[in-house]
Amino acid sequence: MNVLLLGSGGREHAFAHFISKSKKLSKLFIAPGNAGTQLVGVNVVLNPLDFQSVWSFITENQIELVVPGNEDPLVAGVTDFIEAQNSKYGTSVLVAGPSKYASQLEGSKSFSKDLMSEAGIPTARFKTINGHNFQEGIQFLDELEAPYVLKADGLAAGKGVLITDDKNEAQTILSDMIKGEMFGAASSTVVIEEFLKGIEISVFVVSDGNNYQILGSAKDYKRIFEGDQGPNTGGMGAISPVPFADQEFMDKVKSQIVEPTLKTLQDRGYDYRGFLFLGLMNHNGDPKVIEYNVRMGDPETEAIFPRLKTDMLDLLLGIGNKDISSVEFDLDERTAATVFLVSEGYPGTIEKGRLISGLEAINNDNSFVFHAGTTLKDGMVATNGGRVIAVTSLASDIQNAVEASMKLADKIDFQGKFYRKDIGQDLISLQK
Ligand code: AMP
Ligand code: GLY
Repeated sequence: MNVLLLGSGGREHAFAHFISKSKKLSKLFIAPGNAGTQLVGVNVVLNPLDFQSVWSFITENQIELVVPGNEDPLVAGVTDFIEAQNSKYGTSVLVAGPSKYASQLEGSKSFSKDLMSEAGIPTARFKTINGHNFQEGIQFLDELEAPYVLKADGLAAGKGVLITDDKNEAQTILSDMIKGEMFGAASSTVVIEEFLKGIEISVFVVSDGNNYQILGSAKDYKRIFEGDQGPNTGGMGAISPVPFADQEFMDKVKSQIVEPTLKTLQDRGYDYRGFLFLGLMNHNGDPKVIEYNVRMGDPETEAIFPRLKTDMLDLLLGIGNKDISSVEFDLDERTAATVFLVSEGYPGTIEKGRLISGLEAINNDNSFVFHAGTTLKDGMVATNGGRVIAVTSLASDIQNAVEASMKLADKIDFQGKFYRKDIGQDLISLQK
């Protein structure tokens, strides 16, 4: 079958890599892709948000399955659009991603908080504020203790969450978000919430609406510098699985979070079909939801997919065909450690176009190189973004997996290369 994958990051190279291993695949197209995805498929110039053009490409290239990598096309309704085209033209193109309605779990913080309240899912106490009830927001800040968490309701390219210890600053941020349109329309509504204490962990679920499977747990490392210092990034590395996400913890995640989420959507008349990413806080062994994402995580995907022995197309077709229960799940028991090589200056201003060497070294059963911000320059691979290359290694424990990834990280080189050398060390300390 022919498959169209939407996106261009490390997550998408991981998808592309494992889709390309499936015997069911005829041709894989990636829009727009990167220098890594074109090693395993055909990159195409196509804007994933231009649905008419996506549809033209689908019909011209006999695409049977569309895989949206990031949230933008999902929140904009790509699944509904393709299903409407199917009804119109009698086609049956499958999409491995949730509907526009269900994608509000990520696309609207107030939607997700309301759903959690309705379902009784453990999460931070909150209030939704807009131009009409602004004063209630000021009062709610008085009721809370520092730090204060303010979230733009809509998508804000990962920048819509602001946390401050200073109540006056929180009030100013609230005003700037709502009245000053700090994030445009995305912040005309703001969710103010209680600060949750604990350790963050991501849990990945795949569902066809009726049944689901847990794909695994992962921890990502968001800050640019070692010891979780400096500004937030798109992710500097990941470890999967997370040792403290033991059976007892995961059972709570299933019964207190996954099942009530899927059931509440169903009670409202909507199925959740796709990947569901739970951003959780582990508070003394109890999971609380920080956020939902309606896609896989990046860099967590680069850590989780190498552990997944299940055929990737079987998994994606299970979502599209509402047949997840027939998919055989098999997860490698070993630990995966992903380390991201980034450009100097990231997450601020960076230089692009620097040649990358040492890429030929790798890719075996225990080690993987996933491209993120890369492109071809005169036939050679060059940097094209802040996060450039993710290397993942599988080993018996965190330390060995991290050491193997560090070796790869040393072999690959470009001017201004930077990576964190402490990925996973916090989890190792917790185990002691
Ligand atoms: P979100 O986009 O909702 O995941 O928020 C971005 C980041 O802000 C999260 O990954 C957390 O590190 C932090 N965060 C968000 N909400 C809270 C909260 N209620 N308590 C503590 N940290 C939070
Ligand atoms: N790693 C966080 C995200 O993908 O949103």
